[in-house]
Amino acid sequence: MADDLFNAARAVMARAHAPYSKFPVGAAVRSASGALYVGCNVENASYPEGWCAETGAIAAMVAAGETAIAEIAVVAEQMPRTVPCGGCRQRLAEFAGPETNIHLCDATGIVETVTLGQLLPRSFALEARP
Ligand code: THU
Repeated sequence: MADDLFNAARAVMARAHAPYSKFPVGAAVRSASGALYVGCNVENASYPEGWCAETGAIAAMVAAGETAIAEIAVVAEQMPRTVPCGGCRQRLAEFAGPETNIHLCDATGIVETVTLGQLLPRSFALEARP
């Protein structure tokens, strides 16, 4: 069902700029409209200035005028399954809900599907202010 999402994530992983970690990552977001947005990790000689694949996919979605994530797939060829880092979980929470599916992939396909609520319980949100 989410094969197109996996294929898009795997394809963009090939464009990752990861000369330092040698750990290419690809991510693909399906927005509420059904459109796909992709991102790869882009590292920098000044290490902290690099960004994650998920961050790039979210940025592409927002730049296209969309603000709702329906589902996302993440793949790194060297991992049996790839989970978004803590920072990307928070970035996803800006545009996704606790029931949003996150497909964890290996190089051949989706290995496991979890929800954002499972990966980031009790996430920070300004609208939760008393
Ligand atoms: N990376 C991602 O792109 N997404 C994640 O969720 C985890 C880590 C990237 C950052 C860095 O370029 C490389 O993987 C190694 O940490």
